Amino acid sequence: MTSSLLELQGVNIDRNNERLISDINFHLNPGERVTLLGANGTGKSTFLDALVGLHPLSGGDYTAFGKTLNNKSDFHQIRSKIGLVFQDSDDQLFCPSVIEDVAFGPINLGHSPRHARAIALDTLNKLGLGELSERITYKLSGGEKRLVSIATVLAMDPDIILLDEPTTGLDESARQRLIKCLAELSQALVFTSHDQDLIDQLATRAVLIKNGSFVNSILHQHPHVHVHSHKHVHSDDDLTHTPPSDPEHSSHYHPGDANRQKS
Ligand SMILES: Nc1ncnc2c1ncn2[C@@H]1O[C@H](COP(=O)(O)OP(=O)(O)OP(=O)(O)O)[C@@H](O)[C@H]1O
Ligand SMILES: [Mg+2]
Repeated sequence: MTSSLLELQGVNIDRNNERLISDINFHLNPGERVTLLGANGTGKSTFLDALVGLHPLSGGDYTAFGKTLNNKSDFHQIRSKIGLVFQDSDDQLFCPSVIEDVAFGPINLGHSPRHARAIALDTLNKLGLGELSERITYKLSGGEKRLVSIATVLAMDPDIILLDEPTTGLDESARQRLIKCLAELSQALVFTSHDQDLIDQLATRAVLIKNGSFVNSILHQHPHVHVHSHKHVHSDDDLTHTPPSDPEHSSHYHPGDANRQKS
């Protein structure tokens, strides 16, 4: 009997009639926040899709919440327990307005429309998105869509949350707000990211996909001094150039800050 929420043993993933990842051994325990690393095209998104039944697995065993998953109906039963935030927000959002999109999941789970709306608003507020609630979804910016996508999953309060590059395209303040919000969650998380700051602040364990295999990876932090040289962009009325005491609220635009990488 396993205490893991998810457990894969000897599972393979194929794509385009070729083996993409072989002999996957992976587990997720309650409260863990596992980061899934790997170069572009190694299969991170495909793996997350496979965990919720959106891509087939072959061979081995996949157990979720103590039950082996074999067919569509097995995956259907765990659908509300595992929430996936897609890499592409346009795959996630399909309702006319933001509030309808975020309330959609709670309504599906059986909440009354009124209660679902309250849950949706609460979730949006937690992410600092309350003002977007009545906006037309398809007219949101890329970063706004990403945050609303995350809200649609958080609103369903699943036991496990899978996030595919959650901070891509976010400005520094939205990025920090999201990281703080994710760090406060009690759910187990699996997330892919190329955002070193997110990994440093959130991950409890790392797994790397390399040469078509899962490799356990060691997370380590080391003191880091960011020595850099870059152009600063100032607004026209910002004629006095004094360094900001609070970089998060600075009007200075630092190109590297949206996706800081540790050297
Ligand atoms: N819809 C698709 N149809 C066919 N092949 C696909 C599709 N999506 C991805 N692939 C292929 O599957 C492989 C794995 O892609 P995947 O998107 O899972 O990689 P990834 O690790 O998430 O990459 P990235 O870091 O760029 O997001 C790649 O070779 C990719 O070209
Ligand atoms: Mg991907």
